[in-house]
Amino acid sequence: MQVDLRILRYDPERDKKPHWETYRVESAPMDRVLDVLNAVKWEKDGTLTYRRSCAHGVCGSDAMLINGRNRLACKIRVDQLGKKISVAPLPGFAVIKDLVVDMEDFFAKYRSVHPYQIDERPMPVTERLQSPEDRARYDDTTKCILCAACTSSCPSFWAKDTYVGPAAIVQAHRFIFDTRDEGSDERLEILADADGVWRCRTIFNCTEACPRGIDITRAILEVSSAIVERSV
Ligand code: SF4
Ligand code: F3S
Ligand code: FES
Repeated sequence: MQVDLRILRYDPERDKKPHWETYRVESAPMDRVLDVLNAVKWEKDGTLTYRRSCAHGVCGSDAMLINGRNRLACKIRVDQLGKKISVAPLPGFAVIKDLVVDMEDFFAKYRSVHPYQIDERPMPVTERLQSPEDRARYDDTTKCILCAACTSSCPSFWAKDTYVGPAAIVQAHRFIFDTRDEGSDERLEILADADGVWRCRTIFNCTEACPRGIDITRAILEVSSAIVERSV
């Protein structure tokens, strides 16, 4: 089948502003949008620029706006979209070139919540044990691949880009509710500030956008509740 792939293109060295270009490519129904982008790049225009690495929904590098929704290009198939497909960079982020956006601020916010285990106790002889129930407490948020589809779809982030955003809160949640971690108080303090969890208006776009099916809004509410409980 033939697919018309409409791509919002932008080359800062050549273009004053982004513009749409359409490419007709041969495609099979089971092809993913990433396969169609590759066909354009390899057969029609080698200057087309986008990020991708694993091609299997693991690395999180190819999130983009596809037919109006943030998705991973390597996970969404042509037969799920039809013969006309539009692709644009993630909303709310500065575009570097074509589908590549500037992720510096996104990763700075990720780092700001200390997304690693904090544990000052002496190193044990064996591993630190945890019950299956305690592990299950934060299982959902371990699935995050830092694709930014959530933060990029959040109207609160569009309105105020200093908001730390759902992805960083998901990453904080993963450690806040880990019984082996000792850094929960400092993370909750960071997320209690003006650009933290209180900027969430429970709009749910983030949860709908997540390619890993993480219940992001619930995770944010759990972090908000933990802040309230600790302050009481
Ligand atoms: Fe991507 Fe989901 Fe992680 Fe957000 S929570 S960065 S949408 S995997
Ligand atoms: Fe934004 Fe998700 Fe909250 S879309 S407002 S972070 S529920
Ligand atoms: Fe790795 Fe799509 S290329 S998630």
